[in-house]
Amino acid sequence: MPTNRRMILVTSALPYANGSIHLGHMLEYIQTDIWVRYQKQCGHQCVYVCADDAHGTAIMLRAQTLGITPEELISDVKSEHEADFSGFHIDFDHYSSTHTETNRHFSELIYSRVRDAGGIAVRNISQLFDPDTELFLADRYVKGTCPKCSADDQYGDNCEACGATYHASELRNPKSTLSGAVPVLKDTEHLFFELDQHTEFLKDWTRSGRLQLEVTNKLAEWIEGGLKSWDISRDAPYFGFEVPDRPGTYFYVWLDAPIGYMGAFKEWCDTNNFDFDSVWGPESVAEIYHFIGKDIVNFHCLFWPAILNQANYRTPTGVNVHGFVTIDGRKMSKSRGTFIKARTYLDHLDPEYLRYYFATKLSANVEDIDLSLEDFAQKVNSDLVGKLVNIASRTAGFITKKFDGQLSADLANPDLVEAIRAKGPYIQSAFEMREFSKAAREIMALADDVNAWIADVAPWHLAKSEDTLAEVQPICTTAINAFRILVLYLKPVTPMLAGKVQEFLQVDSLDYETLNDTLLDHSIAPFTPLLTRIEMKDVEAMIQPDVNEIDNPSKSEIATNNEPIAPECTIDDFTKVDLRVVTIVAAEAVEGADKLLRLTLDLDGETRQVFSAIKAAYKAEDLIGRQTVMIANLAPRKMKFGVSEGMILAAGPGGADIYLLEPDRGAKAGQRIR
Ligand code: 2FM
Ligand code: ZN
Repeated sequence: MPTNRRMILVTSALPYANGSIHLGHMLEYIQTDIWVRYQKQCGHQCVYVCADDAHGTAIMLRAQTLGITPEELISDVKSEHEADFSGFHIDFDHYSSTHTETNRHFSELIYSRVRDAGGIAVRNISQLFDPDTELFLADRYVKGTCPKCSADDQYGDNCEACGATYHASELRNPKSTLSGAVPVLKDTEHLFFELDQHTEFLKDWTRSGRLQLEVTNKLAEWIEGGLKSWDISRDAPYFGFEVPDRPGTYFYVWLDAPIGYMGAFKEWCDTNNFDFDSVWGPESVAEIYHFIGKDIVNFHCLFWPAILNQANYRTPTGVNVHGFVTIDGRKMSKSRGTFIKARTYLDHLDPEYLRYYFATKLSANVEDIDLSLEDFAQKVNSDLVGKLVNIASRTAGFITKKFDGQLSADLANPDLVEAIRAKGPYIQSAFEMREFSKAAREIMALADDVNAWIADVAPWHLAKSEDTLAEVQPICTTAINAFRILVLYLKPVTPMLAGKVQEFLQVDSLDYETLNDTLLDHSIAPFTPLLTRIEMKDVEAMIQPDVNEIDNPSKSEIATNNEPIAPECTIDDFTKVDLRVVTIVAAEAVEGADKLLRLTLDLDGETRQVFSAIKAAYKAEDLIGRQTVMIANLAPRKMKFGVSEGMILAAGPGGADIYLLEPDRGAKAGQRIR
């Protein structure tokens, strides 16, 4: 036990109970699980809880479609999620649901404390209402014609074609996506959490060293822009918790979701006889960390601390934000087969490969992580199999065959083992700081040193002669001791490998309290293969394009022979369009627009700014330097974010499924296309 034993509560974001876990989700659970396992390995008391996020309209509607109750749906999905997490060795201390009586208790308690402290306002709002389903419609359930550019089939919050953002009631020809009915505006009373009351508190809180710098900076922009009240209620019918003093009104799913962290922890406390308030009470000295993705920073770093503070609970010690997963440099896509479910991965590959690969990519910043499939196979094979396991596989056989499984009384190279041990503080600090890629790099550099030394002393040569055979035992004992420490270092990342090594070395633990142990005069089990190489065919088998996504492109995308997309045009019509080769010299996301990138295009000296709805398909930084084709004489369009001076050309139905046109090699920026 460490003398300064910490009590640490850790959470990952609660996955929605209406869909499967995919590799994008898994990044977060793997990151969190590695950190938690590291803390436990150091001897700290670390409790990792999570739960399914079970409420909301989407879950209610999905259950209706399936002809089951929401309770049945969330119970089925929870079992599926738990099986997926366990498949990836995500070791929760407790996994709950937000739809529990414990969570209802905390949701009601926190709401009433915030209300009594004057933190809630009641306001009348006008919202689109579907007269057929008798539901108030969230923006994603309304489609219509963009009020700015007249593009059809646009959602109720923003336009994919021109990037405009608007209120759903501004859409022309609005239709409910649930029933096709024309929605009507209807007045309703909602509850609002008055976030602006907390501006000064949040200014301090977000700068108090609990957040990554880039997150603090982003929050400072939002706070500067003025904090708006947050609508925390929804009207019946809704699957959630009814607000105690307002029958027919429910807490919005995002109110009781983070409270679910508390609910899950309370359940753990009850089974483990632990004092909940010693962690969540205002005087707590325990640590609390939330691991989340960059898309839900506002909920965790504005609403959540403000609500906790007003309800007289302590706030988290840290909120650790990670980026998204891309696959081969692009957003995950169903039609490309790269929208890989956790279960699909597990059907083909060992979870520890992915745990290791993500670890080699993860740092404490918010950058996206690319799962490059060839690099994945190459790195796992080269590092885990070729470097780490290789140390044991090339030395353990001698111990078994020539020395009856017995390690020697002395090491041939104690300095080598000591040098590896001496890196402990560096590696520990890297894990603590969530710099897993640093830790993995150091561990593999040490494995390289050990392999180089083994190659140098070549026990396989010495074993050939009776005169030198005695030298082989301390050499292999040195290698096995080095191997033990390296596997100990990597244990949070590859816990199953560590478990097998424990059996092979016949040791009770690979925790840090054993770091200084040396295995001498010790008997080990015969070596059996610990890890096999990744075969590219298994990786390829995992990538199965979703035939439904490919076979059902929207009608406007695919022309059949007798059904042209647009009326015939003449060559004169065509030559009116000034198509040019351009080089993308800058690309960035547009603040406040989900789908747009702002591109700066070079046409050989002349520069144009163009907004393009390709953010779901491309990472901005990957586009810089690429060539594409633009319509250079398109009339400039004034958009909310600036003027778009042309349009770039791409194929595909949209969203993540969009493919930029690229001229053949040799084309020059500014060249006309004819
Ligand atoms: O974004 C999501 O998937 C949410 N279900 C995360 C909730 S995290 C927490 F606040 F509950
Ligand atoms: Zn538009």
